[in-house]
Amino acid sequence: LDSDREAALTIAVTPSELDTRLAGGWTIPASWYSDPALYQDELDRIFARRWHLAGRLSALSKPGDHLVCQAGHIPVVVVRDGDSGLRGFVNVCRHRGHPVALEPGNAKRLQCRYHGWTYGLDGRLTGAPRCRLEPGFDKSELSLLPVAVDVWRDLVFVNPDPGAEPLLTSAPELDDVLAARGFDERPGFRFHGRWTYTIEANWKAWTENAIECYHCPLVHKNSFNDQYATDHEVYDVVNSGPLMGQFTKYRRRADGAPVAADGPQFRFCLLYPSAMLIEDDFVFFVGSTVPTGPDSCEFVTDTYVSPDLPEAEVESWLAAWNQTLEEDLEVVAAQRNGLRSGAVPYGRLLPTSESAIAHFHRLVVADLEREA
Ligand code: FES
Repeated sequence: LDSDREAALTIAVTPSELDTRLAGGWTIPASWYSDPALYQDELDRIFARRWHLAGRLSALSKPGDHLVCQAGHIPVVVVRDGDSGLRGFVNVCRHRGHPVALEPGNAKRLQCRYHGWTYGLDGRLTGAPRCRLEPGFDKSELSLLPVAVDVWRDLVFVNPDPGAEPLLTSAPELDDVLAARGFDERPGFRFHGRWTYTIEANWKAWTENAIECYHCPLVHKNSFNDQYATDHEVYDVVNSGPLMGQFTKYRRRADGAPVAADGPQFRFCLLYPSAMLIEDDFVFFVGSTVPTGPDSCEFVTDTYVSPDLPEAEVESWLAAWNQTLEEDLEVVAAQRNGLRSGAVPYGRLLPTSESAIAHFHRLVVADLEREA
C-alpha cells in the first residue's frame, strides 16, 4: 500500500502527520467531514467556546427586548435587562428542555410555554406551577444557564462559555481589518427578511466554499461572478486570527451606475467558526452557520437592503444572491458522497487561490488539539 491508501484505511492521524500535510498544501482528512466522534469534539471544543453572531444591537434597545439565535448547536436567548444591560442565556428550560423564547420580542419575563415555568430577565426562576407540592424544590438552583455576551458596533455576539475572553481580545481584527476597509454594517438599511438554507454537507465544507472564490468563475458564472470582480489580481483575501475576509469591486452595480475605480465595494467576513457578514452598497447579510449533524448544517441569514434602491432592483440583486447561495448548496452537497467514501483521503489545495482554507484548517486543528 502506498501512503495515501494507508491513510484512507484509518480515521486517526497523528498531529505531526497532520501538520506535515497542512504545511504541504493538503487538506484535513476526508473522514473529518462525516465522522460522528470528531463532530462531537468540534461541538465541544469549537462551537461551545467561540463567539457567534446573535443579531443587531438595535433590536435590543428597550428593557425586555430579546432575540433568539444559535451559538453553533446551542440555542441562546439574549435579553435587555433593565438593571444591568444585556444578558445571554442558554435558551433551554431547566424543566424539560423546551425553549423559553421562541422568537424575538419584548416581555417582562420569559415564560416557557410548555408547562409555564417563568424566569426573570436576570435568568432566575421565579415561578413553576405546582412546585410548592414538591419538598426540596429549590428555585434558586434552577436559573437559566448564562452565556457570555459582547457587542461590536451594532452587532451582538454570544459565546456559550460564560468565562470567555472579550470578543475583541479574541478577534481584534474586527477593528483592524474591517474598519480599515470601510465595513460599516450599512446604517439605515431596512430589514428585508430571514433566509434559511438546509445544507447537505458538513459545516466545514460549507465554510470552505464561502471563504474561497476559486470556484466563482465556474459555479457562479451568472450570479456572483456577474456581480463582482473575482479575478485573482483584484480579489483581496485577508486571513488574520479568527477573521477571514474577502474584498473586491463590482463588475456591475445593482443600480446600473458606473463602477468606481477604487475601494473595496464588496466586503465579506467570516468570523470563525460561524459568523458571516457580507455587505455592499445595496445589501447587508448577517449570517450564521449552524451545525446540525456530522454531515449537515444550516445557514441562516438576516437580509437588509438599501432604502434608496427601487424595489425591482432590490429584488433582482437579491435574486442573484439567492442563486449564488443555491449554487453553493449544490456543489457542497455533491462533495459529500466523495468525502464520505474516504477514497481520496486528503485533498490538494492551491494555497495561492485557497489560502483561507489552509488558514481555516489550522484554526480547526488548533481548537481540536487544545484541552477539552
Ligand atoms: Fe419548560 Fe416544562 S419544559 S416548563
